[in-house]
Amino acid sequence: METVVSGIRSTGNLHLGNYFGAIRNFIKMQYEHNCYFFIADYHSLTTHPTPKDLHNNVKQVMVEYLAAGLDPEAATLYIQSDVSQVCELYLLLNMNAYKGELERCTSFKEKVHKQPDNINAGLLTYPVLMAADIIIHKATKVPVGKDQEQHLEMARTFANRFNRLYKTNYFPQPYAFNFSEDLIKIPGLDGSTKMGKSENEGNAIFLADDPKIIKKKIMRAVTDSGPTKHNQEKPQEIENLFNLMKVVSENETYNYFNEAYNNCSIRYGDMKKQLAEDVIMFTAPLREKILEISNDNEYLRKVAAMGKEKAMENASKTIKEVRKIIGFKSF
Ligand code: TRP
Repeated sequence: METVVSGIRSTGNLHLGNYFGAIRNFIKMQYEHNCYFFIADYHSLTTHPTPKDLHNNVKQVMVEYLAAGLDPEAATLYIQSDVSQVCELYLLLNMNAYKGELERCTSFKEKVHKQPDNINAGLLTYPVLMAADIIIHKATKVPVGKDQEQHLEMARTFANRFNRLYKTNYFPQPYAFNFSEDLIKIPGLDGSTKMGKSENEGNAIFLADDPKIIKKKIMRAVTDSGPTKHNQEKPQEIENLFNLMKVVSENETYNYFNEAYNNCSIRYGDMKKQLAEDVIMFTAPLREKILEISNDNEYLRKVAAMGKEKAMENASKTIKEVRKIIGFKSF
């Protein structure tokens, strides 16, 4: 059994791609490992220092993860800003994090480019806070995508450096959690191969989208002018629609339209109508759950409090030991 930590961005709604990707893995992992999942609200301040509605962003993310199947009894689900021990470790790690290595970080360079008027210290030390998130629980596995590989490497660097500087073996090395097996890739509706990858509005179907919006997005999905030869290969955007159909529709439905494509009788309008109906059916229980949980403040309060308590217990143990290792002592 590994100790797993993952941070969830506090903005952005869940889409079908997340549902079949990261979320599936979280749900599986929570029953197999010692998992800490948290909503990274501190991190969001590095780009949005004065958020319009911080609390509701956090709430929406928590609601959607719960609706998608995160089990707060199995995993420790908490809000980053509820566990102030993370801040203390962040501060301590900052003393041994160097300007040069932080400036070389790809995500920092990207942000410098993107927000030249707000190159704040939080942005520069983003990887230090992320390292603190991870090693505060002495995690060994972190389920993140390729875009977080460098941050994870920095977390290893900081953990290692701590061990070396204070002549200890306290922090283990955190590595990426690899789950290449049976991951269903959900394509985007704009012809791109991955839902959520492009910023294109209409590329993604969100779990909280209402049926009207879902229908509109699917009816507007990119298609070509139709097949002209029997059994011709499908271009990417058509393949995408079929792949989505494979996930949400009955086999017969998929076969019916596939056949129609192969004999050139397909009408994309009909296919999209059917696809919209099936996506709406598939997502209906999730939508209901989101609504239900969203209205249940009592439950949300309980979940947050439970996560906070479990995470704090573990985090304060680490901080106590770290303080001792560095040499803090009470009189
Ligand atoms: N940087 C991660 C992202 O952008 C979020 C994150 C913050 C995180 N702290 C973490 C992920 C700790 C894993 C572990 O998605």
